[in-house]
Amino acid sequence: MQLRNVVLLSLLQLTKAHFLLNSPPTIGFSDDEEGDYPCGSFDATDRKTVTDFPIGGIPIALTSTHPEVTWFYRAALLNDTNNWVDLYQSITQVGQGNFCSQNVPGLADWEGQDAVLQIAASAPDGWLFQCSAIKFVSGAATAPGGSCRNATSVKASFSNEKLILNAQTTTISGSSSKPTQTGTSNMAPPASTTSATGSNAGASNRVEKLAIFGSIAGAIGLLFI
Ligand SMILES: *[C@@H]1O[C@H](CO)[C@@H](O)[C@H](O)[C@H]1NC(C)=O
Ligand SMILES: *[C@@H]1O[C@H](CO)[C@@H](O)[C@H](O)[C@H]1NC(C)=O
Repeated sequence: MQLRNVVLLSLLQLTKAHFLLNSPPTIGFSDDEEGDYPCGSFDATDRKTVTDFPIGGIPIALTSTHPEVTWFYRAALLNDTNNWVDLYQSITQVGQGNFCSQNVPGLADWEGQDAVLQIAASAPDGWLFQCSAIKFVSGAATAPGGSCRNATSVKASFSNEKLILNAQTTTISGSSSKPTQTGTSNMAPPASTTSATGSNAGASNRVEKLAIFGSIAGAIGLLFI
């Protein structure tokens, strides 16, 4: 009986989690608050674990639990965590599981500077964020470790989607996500965009409920094996 409960619990957790930042070390992960800009509810200036980020590059290892997600790798200086700069082209991952970009280059202009790495994910249920405390240093790329791997079912390709570097709007390709900070009035999203976001959220809610139902059905199925 205990084993069965464990099976049920782990299936439900898999359905609920958003994404994991496996490497470099995350400043913090909260499943419920991963949608909070800029660092999934954690302090962007936290320096408990700082990773050297050679200009030559580092591996960024992620796990997605959504069928499709678009990744944005960005950085900001520690003294200016409202201005995020792209490190790499955005990448769309199709399929759940591990995904690792082996060699994301550092910003040569920021060599020697304390900075923050932000992983922003555009997922069916909205924006998700995790950050890592970094320092840009000179040198060649860091070799990928064991956590740097791609799940066999995962397909990835570069995307042309751009994030507008603006704390108030966090927009993608002209369509607004849910505003995460109170913007000045000229930054309020147009009503049409807001309703589009609302209906998307409804759709993804339904998808999530279906997925949870599927997991429960699957787990109950296992009880009868
Ligand atoms: C942050 O620090 C960099 C160099 O250390 C400096 O050039 C820049 O002006 C600072 N920015 C702010 C907003 O203080
Ligand atoms: C994972 O897939 C991406 C995109 O195809 C590729 O650039 C990357 O090198 C792969 N990572 C590993 C660890 O093979």
